[in-house]
Amino acid sequence: MNGKRPAITIFGGTGDLTFRKLLPALYNRMLSGSAPDGQDIIIIGRRAYTDAEYREKAREWVKKFARLPYREKTFETFAQSIRYYRMDFTNLEAYPALDTFLDEQGIETCVFYFAVAPRFFATIAEGLFQIGHAQGSQVILEKPFGENLDDARALNARLEAAFGAENIYRIDHYLGKEMVRNVQTIRFTNPIFADAWDAKHIACIQISALEDVGVETRGGYYDHSGALRDMVQNHLFQILSILAMERPAAFTPEAMHEEQLRVLRALRPLTEENIADQVVLGQYDGYREETNVAPDSKTETYAALKVFVDNDRWRDMPFYIRTGKKLGRREMEVAVVFKSPSPDIAPTVLLVKFQPTEGVYLQFNIKRPGDFEDIMPVKMDFCQSCSIANRINTPEAYERLLSACFHGERSWFSQWDQIETSWKYVDRLEELWGDRTPAAYAPDTAGPREADALLEQDGHHWFREPEVQ
Ligand code: BG6
Repeated sequence: MNGKRPAITIFGGTGDLTFRKLLPALYNRMLSGSAPDGQDIIIIGRRAYTDAEYREKAREWVKKFARLPYREKTFETFAQSIRYYRMDFTNLEAYPALDTFLDEQGIETCVFYFAVAPRFFATIAEGLFQIGHAQGSQVILEKPFGENLDDARALNARLEAAFGAENIYRIDHYLGKEMVRNVQTIRFTNPIFADAWDAKHIACIQISALEDVGVETRGGYYDHSGALRDMVQNHLFQILSILAMERPAAFTPEAMHEEQLRVLRALRPLTEENIADQVVLGQYDGYREETNVAPDSKTETYAALKVFVDNDRWRDMPFYIRTGKKLGRREMEVAVVFKSPSPDIAPTVLLVKFQPTEGVYLQFNIKRPGDFEDIMPVKMDFCQSCSIANRINTPEAYERLLSACFHGERSWFSQWDQIETSWKYVDRLEELWGDRTPAAYAPDTAGPREADALLEQDGHHWFREPEVQ
């Protein structure tokens, strides 16, 4: 922090993200001793709270969502570092008063966190720029970065001009997840996987991010966004590019970004002819009745895609990606389905489980024990998060990424060229999709039937770990 008084200022301080993720992450950092000494937390929101009232709210969220145990004494110190500032951040005329407030707090530069919808990013950047607080500060931006390619480009130009490219941290919290970081190690350090990591040995790779919740209090944001912008363009394309990238020359941030970008650039373009075979969008019944959702909304709450990476390693091997709300379970995992030697033998499957359980599951074949000659699939199951010690010692994604930003480490943040390339894909998809209505699905089911057909047409099915074996 250049020797100046450390502070983080959060725009959107009364929103879901701040309550559920940012305050608990900042509290965890304090409890684990990794917060900078004397760090102030400035919360900006539109609602009327006194510092004391906001701190009481913070107590509830920390108790509910923090990874580490609630400790009264630590919380009191943490609470004293929080100041609440009421402001309409969409009004540029309100910024000079913010300047005065920050000066009164003795804050010269800080990390600004934009925990708001992307349509407000440019205004906030402009406001901070006008009061001279953009220079020398770092800014963390929530995803999605912009609403489409053109918007993202304009926004990027504006932000880079205000803050400087090197001070922009575009957060994708999936990059802070333990198992996302583990994927490369599992893949590159185990020859049984490393040497078979291509279309010659693998039949398909499936990336699933399933959620049990609906849009909850975020209807206004979500109805503009939908599953494609909310999850696919960022989180899931990041994971895809990590899974599919070539081994980088060195595991430096630059080399890794380069390889990830190559994957995104090699995505086979969608066309009028292939979109019907490659894309399924769905909407859960009852979505249109959610608060702040248009009664005739065609926003997708579910997306399943088949994509191809047109390079030598992956040519013609499908990657299936799916995500959605109200799917009856919360499960994020990647299934690598290897080619089986014959149709009557179950495939070997490597399942990397990201959440709620973190671990690695391997399905492989043995001879059925006893006087049998037939072959049966069995499993090996490594549960990383089953040990309490692991669960407590592993920082959560936001904690990790906030720490990285405070230390000026940019490696696990999205880079502009990756974002630009994924937007191109999603914009094209939306253009081709046009005004079609997403397929309906009942809440708490596995999503639209069409998403199963997407795989069945290729002779595959969504892999699911058997509950009992
Ligand atoms: C966010 C999306 O980025 O990720 C949410 O905006 C989604 O809609 C969330 O619920 C899922 O994150 P996680 O960490 O719970 O998988």
